[in-house]
Amino acid sequence: MKNCISRTKYYLNSGWSFFAQKDPQKKHTDIEIPHTPVVLSHNCFDEDIYQDIYHYSKTFTTLPQWEGAAILLTVEGAAHRATVIFNGNELYTHKCGYTAFTVDITQYLNSTDKENTLEIILDSCESLDQPPFGNVIDYMTYAGLYREVYIEQVSSIYMKDVAVFSDMAYYSSTIELNKIPDNLSLSVTQSLYKKNNDSYDQLIYESEPYKVSGNKCTIKSPVLDVESWSLNNPNLYKLVTHLKDTDGNIYDTNETITGFRTISFDSTGFYLNGEKIKLRGLNRHQSYPYIGYAAPEKLQKDDAFIIKNKLGCNIVRTSHYPQSQYFIDECDRLGLLVFTEIPGWQHIGESDDWKEQTLNNVRDMVLQYRNHPSIILWGVRINESQDCDELYEKTNELARQLDPTRPTGGVRFLKNSHFFEDVYTYNDFVHNGTNTGLLHKKSVTKSRGGYLVSEYCGHMYPVKSFDSELMRTDLALRHARIADCAAKYNDIAGAIGWCAFDYHTHNDFGSGDRICYHGVMDMFRNPKLASFVYASQKDYKQAADCVLEVSTDMHIGDFQAGTLGEIWAFTNAPAIKVYDNGEYVKTYTSKDSPFKGLAHGPILIDDMIGDRLVSQDKINPLFAPSVKKLLFIIRKYTVDKTPLKYKVLFALLMLCGAITPKRMEQLYFKYMGSWGGNSRVTTVEAVDKDNNPIKTIKRGARVKQISLALESLRDTLIQGSSYDSVEINIKAVDEHENILHYCQEPFTVKCEGAVKLIGSEISSLKGGMGGVYIRTKGQSGKGTVTVKDWLGNIYTKEFTVINDSKVLKL
Ligand code: GAL
Repeated sequence: MKNCISRTKYYLNSGWSFFAQKDPQKKHTDIEIPHTPVVLSHNCFDEDIYQDIYHYSKTFTTLPQWEGAAILLTVEGAAHRATVIFNGNELYTHKCGYTAFTVDITQYLNSTDKENTLEIILDSCESLDQPPFGNVIDYMTYAGLYREVYIEQVSSIYMKDVAVFSDMAYYSSTIELNKIPDNLSLSVTQSLYKKNNDSYDQLIYESEPYKVSGNKCTIKSPVLDVESWSLNNPNLYKLVTHLKDTDGNIYDTNETITGFRTISFDSTGFYLNGEKIKLRGLNRHQSYPYIGYAAPEKLQKDDAFIIKNKLGCNIVRTSHYPQSQYFIDECDRLGLLVFTEIPGWQHIGESDDWKEQTLNNVRDMVLQYRNHPSIILWGVRINESQDCDELYEKTNELARQLDPTRPTGGVRFLKNSHFFEDVYTYNDFVHNGTNTGLLHKKSVTKSRGGYLVSEYCGHMYPVKSFDSELMRTDLALRHARIADCAAKYNDIAGAIGWCAFDYHTHNDFGSGDRICYHGVMDMFRNPKLASFVYASQKDYKQAADCVLEVSTDMHIGDFQAGTLGEIWAFTNAPAIKVYDNGEYVKTYTSKDSPFKGLAHGPILIDDMIGDRLVSQDKINPLFAPSVKKLLFIIRKYTVDKTPLKYKVLFALLMLCGAITPKRMEQLYFKYMGSWGGNSRVTTVEAVDKDNNPIKTIKRGARVKQISLALESLRDTLIQGSSYDSVEINIKAVDEHENILHYCQEPFTVKCEGAVKLIGSEISSLKGGMGGVYIRTKGQSGKGTVTVKDWLGNIYTKEFTVINDSKVLKL
């Protein structure tokens, strides 16, 4: 009898209950996955609060259509050691919190219409003998069944794995069945569909049938008429694989989204489809305020959107573990390259089990992620660990065996360490604010292959969004110097900064409040000034693409002795015009930037005077440049600390009759401002190539109005396989839309209708910015979020919640 059952997925993301071993009496019901057992404070909590053994359980009924089918249970991610007990039978223990696992539960299922009990005992303690544990770690590892859970009904003979290796000339696919089919002659066919609008409905290729031999089948086919997957046009295709018998009965169907591209690293850099691309990116931890790791699909995708479209990066490193498939799916869709790696942080465990698990992690990472076109590099060393030849020879060999198409890397801080990988990936923290941005490859490794800087900045200069303007500017310039170096050095494929977002960390790291403030954005994904170094590298095509930010708020009282220091503009606009108190001063373009390696390097606004010393103040044109220079020098150093050579210049100008001390003082008050004098208003206007204004920033004006601005990336939430969630970014702004960087005031949040709040109802701004996470709660319709500020002003934001009825759930 034929046993053809079409593959069907049922999500098991709701109706769970759990209790913590510390408090077994307290049973929590109606739990939804992704789940965090403990909703955390924003900061100042101890990592002990999430470390426990959690007992999760859920019941579901055996469906009639499962008769004769194999039933496979998959958990996408559970932190950190999960034991599956099904109807009282202990079936499997998975020893990694960052990879998925699948368990065949068929033979333990109760009969049709009877209830089954699924239990997952989850050890979330950091004392586990498995990666990344065993020593200190600079990130919190959280707890919980934090990625989705589902079961699939499949024929008893099914495809356990379909791998696609594609480049521009051909694609090959290896298919593995769950077992050798006795007495059955099976074959595999593949069809390739192109995406049109939102669906893959244009058939462009159909393979001949390939015979299954044993439990394997390999298909190799020239690629016909496909468009390459690239950063600007990340064309995706759907490859549909059918497993059939000789009568054409379909046993199983697999759908894989893929893209066609070539990648290579060599000593001259990185090439995508033969085109040299300088890699410019940031590291990402998968953590969020309040929920830790438990972020559903769309929040994961929002991060990919932020890194690619807001920050303009072309690569992200998933430090220090494989991250959500949803995140990587979105990287595929947006054209954001990915360097992913096995879990770990500096430490290699002593035990054989620990090392064995590292190899398992390599295997799971490559098998589970190898169909993503965005992934260009496998990290097969424990981040920043010491050399361990025996282990790393094996991890490299295994990755190459499972994926012959991608290079391996392995992140180290060691120079000239033993090198088994294809690309030397090095964390370069040489820059201290005054020296070179990056080392040259030859001073790090003698290896001949590719070289990529996998981290920079980070602990060298932690900056909070509520730190002084000087520090925020310094951080931005450090990122700029390093990115500039990476762009200029021909021996570097690129550089990935540390890091995209601030993240929770242990007491041994960070600022003591359990946050590492190393992000170019805060934990709520609000921008620090440094983020504009990246954002401004985006191409400018039209006004909507314009990025413009200025380093200063023009408040001299924020600086030692009232010396404002340098003013920088971050923009991708064709030009910027600067006005002082409404009077035009000067126009700058990116050619004026000292960062010549960057397409749009930060621009030093070095003139707030223009030609007014001559036109208004009647200074002799011959001496005006020197007088101007002196005014800026005094602003930078103060009169007392002005270097001797400028004091001499001043004396010479006096001798020539160009200036007097009194006149100099008047000019200083006129152009540079003074402590207690009226604030200066600086306007920076971005203009297009025809000189039309496209964006304006006004700084220094007296703030008369303060209000909150609420923004979110989405206002329609979709309940699909699980609940949906979105962040609302909150900013305190003045009437010119400037963020009030030292506004730390409180606000409260209330939700009504189809959405509810995650975390506390009371929060506060940090550096003038904050965030709120909301989620759906099962019902569709309108949801309203009301934010009340410290003065009682009310702000609301509306959301629409839609149910995706196509998703099957148990
Ligand atoms: C690196 C490490 C990262 C982070 C960073 C801080 O050494 O790989 O995880 O700790 O330092 O700068």
